[in-house]
Amino acid sequence: LNTSPYIVGGQDASRGSLPWQVSLRGCSNCGHKCGGSIINERWIVTAAHCVDDQTTYYVAVGETVLYEYSPRNVYRTERVIPHEYYNSMTYNADIAVLKLRTSLVFSDTIQPICINDLRNSENISNGLDQLDSGYALISGWGAIYEGGFGPSDGVLQEVSIPIVSNYQCNQVYDGRINSNMICAGMPNGGRDSCQGDSGGPLVRRFYSQQWLLSGIVSFGANCGTQGTPGIYTKVSKIADWVFDQTDGEVFSDIRFCGDVLDHDENRDLELTWNSDLGWTGTGNC
Ligand code: ARG
Repeated sequence: LNTSPYIVGGQDASRGSLPWQVSLRGCSNCGHKCGGSIINERWIVTAAHCVDDQTTYYVAVGETVLYEYSPRNVYRTERVIPHEYYNSMTYNADIAVLKLRTSLVFSDTIQPICINDLRNSENISNGLDQLDSGYALISGWGAIYEGGFGPSDGVLQEVSIPIVSNYQCNQVYDGRINSNMICAGMPNGGRDSCQGDSGGPLVRRFYSQQWLLSGIVSFGANCGTQGTPGIYTKVSKIADWVFDQTDGEVFSDIRFCGDVLDHDENRDLELTWNSDLGWTGTGNC
């Protein structure tokens, strides 16, 4: 298996394998600023800390290679709604929803990610997000090592990492991890999100072929260092807020979200070849 030192420790994502991933920019022809995820034709979810300096942003959709975006794949925002409890000191409630001025046209490479609908009887993520274990997939065009740049060829990176319990995470982060956050990372480091990945998705498989947005890249001490997991906004905890902000437009039909072109059964597992799962159980930090 080929791993390259991207996202941190990731590998190239193939076309259509992360169709909800977007690149957030500060202007229509500016460079990449943050990640984000499509949750329906008109709405994007990202981190609040990514949208705290302007009133309008641009969202590039539908490409795997950053430099191949065409202007027609760049959408302007109509509204930017950070969570009212977002706190730039503590990173509590680090989530924002963005309404686009025009609707996306879904295709093989442009699709929404599923998000927990507490009003949905299927309540897909309830059990899943209660689990302090298992694997998640993170993706982005962020730095490939602490203090570095993104992938030089612009290819979107993905990597799977284990979920770390809040209890264990708080041993490292001195109690700063609250119930609106989830942690994920390798006990020995080596795979992580990093600067520029913020706002992007942490997804978990729920039905055999579908993916759920469980987390949003938020913060972390260093990138990929041993003993310091990355911190993600816990989307299921804040799904009600998303529903309210989007006037209930999100969470339409669970059958049409989180699907990808290539159904690779082992995608969230194949990168675990040499993993040492010391986080769960009594492993030390
Ligand atoms: N705050 C960073 C950003 O704005 C994300 C950092 C994530 N760090 C980590 N070690 N997981 O892009």
